[in-house]
Amino acid sequence: MAPSSLTLAIVSLATWVSLISPAHSATCTSQTFTNNKLYAFCNDLPSLASYLHWAYDPAGLTLSIAFIAPPDGPDGWVSWAINPTATGMRGSQALIAFRDAGGKMTVKTYNISSYAPLTESKVWYEVKEATAEFSGGVIRLFATLVLPQGAATTVNQVWQVGPSVTGGVPDRHAFQPANLNSKARLDLLRGESTVILVGNTRTKKRNTHGILNVVSWGIMFPIGIIIARYLRAFPSADPAWFYLHVSCQVSAYAIGVSGWSTGLKLGSESKGVRYANHGNIGIALFAFATVQVFALLLRPNKEHKYRFYWNIYHHGMGYVILILGIINVFKGFNILKPEPKWRDAYIILISVLGGLAVLLEAITWIMVLKRKKSSKTTQPYEGHGHGNGRQEHMDM
Ligand SMILES: *[C@@H]1O[C@H](CO)[C@@H](O)[C@H](O)[C@H]1NC(C)=O
Repeated sequence: MAPSSLTLAIVSLATWVSLISPAHSATCTSQTFTNNKLYAFCNDLPSLASYLHWAYDPAGLTLSIAFIAPPDGPDGWVSWAINPTATGMRGSQALIAFRDAGGKMTVKTYNISSYAPLTESKVWYEVKEATAEFSGGVIRLFATLVLPQGAATTVNQVWQVGPSVTGGVPDRHAFQPANLNSKARLDLLRGESTVILVGNTRTKKRNTHGILNVVSWGIMFPIGIIIARYLRAFPSADPAWFYLHVSCQVSAYAIGVSGWSTGLKLGSESKGVRYANHGNIGIALFAFATVQVFALLLRPNKEHKYRFYWNIYHHGMGYVILILGIINVFKGFNILKPEPKWRDAYIILISVLGGLAVLLEAITWIMVLKRKKSSKTTQPYEGHGHGNGRQEHMDM
């Protein structure tokens, strides 16, 4: 059936979009330090415009690093961590650089075991020295660490940037794809940092979720409503509008449900963050749309006396879905923060659909009024009229 092949096309589009990533050239090799420090290796880290320079002495287990990143705001912080037990933030043994209350750059260590506010603590490695400087929009964090006996020479690194510091405690960072993908394996001896694919999978999921839901709730449902409301005013489109409307909404529903389920997955995977409103509207949309699709099966015959009430219910629910769908698309844009062009493109598209609806509304009324002149019994819509005669015919 059409919905599944459409879904497939959209999923492949989403996958393709998520594969486009900025090309990397090794910028770090041209970076120099005012203290003339030299490091054996450097890497352009794959997210957050961050760089790591390092040198490792396996005999003394001594690791010297310079981590460079732009904080997420002028009073923000940057962090570099080793996670000896996992790949993500939980369990990270972090160095965080920020401006202290006195205005001086400072570096502190944190054993990050949860998403709770950070408290300074001892970490898995020993810190010989750590300093930081802030200039040109980037913080440079320098540290010399001694790893514990038996430490592997390939470690999981995690880095992060945050917007602010409150009372000496770094505040929570953003949860954009770049913030969630900021982890990699680091081979201390070979100078290779490889991206951990878990992060990319998540970005793909977010893109898929966004595209499926914009297409379904944000575009196809409104088009289906426009078809139902305006096409049937044309007597020549009589059975056609109905089948167009049903196939458009059923496909939208199929895509919407797969988009919704990717959202549920994303929600269950992001332990620390909850987008309660977005999620609740999503659940409501799923419930309403399911009722709408099944209401089709319960639709009374057009001569039946309850058909008038069924119409009111079906149209009312349709408009609720229309409005909630568009609101949730914008909430989704605020959460995923795609490049502004996607949001702009959607605004243009939905405005065009809105303009088209206004135009068709005017045309429909002109047609209905003309028809009224020639036949006194004609009514524009059951919502305005009394659901009799000609109008019932228009409503299949
Ligand atoms: C970090 O915190 C975890 C959980 O509280 C604890 O199990 C672990 O031993 C701590 N690590 C260090 C180096 O203190």
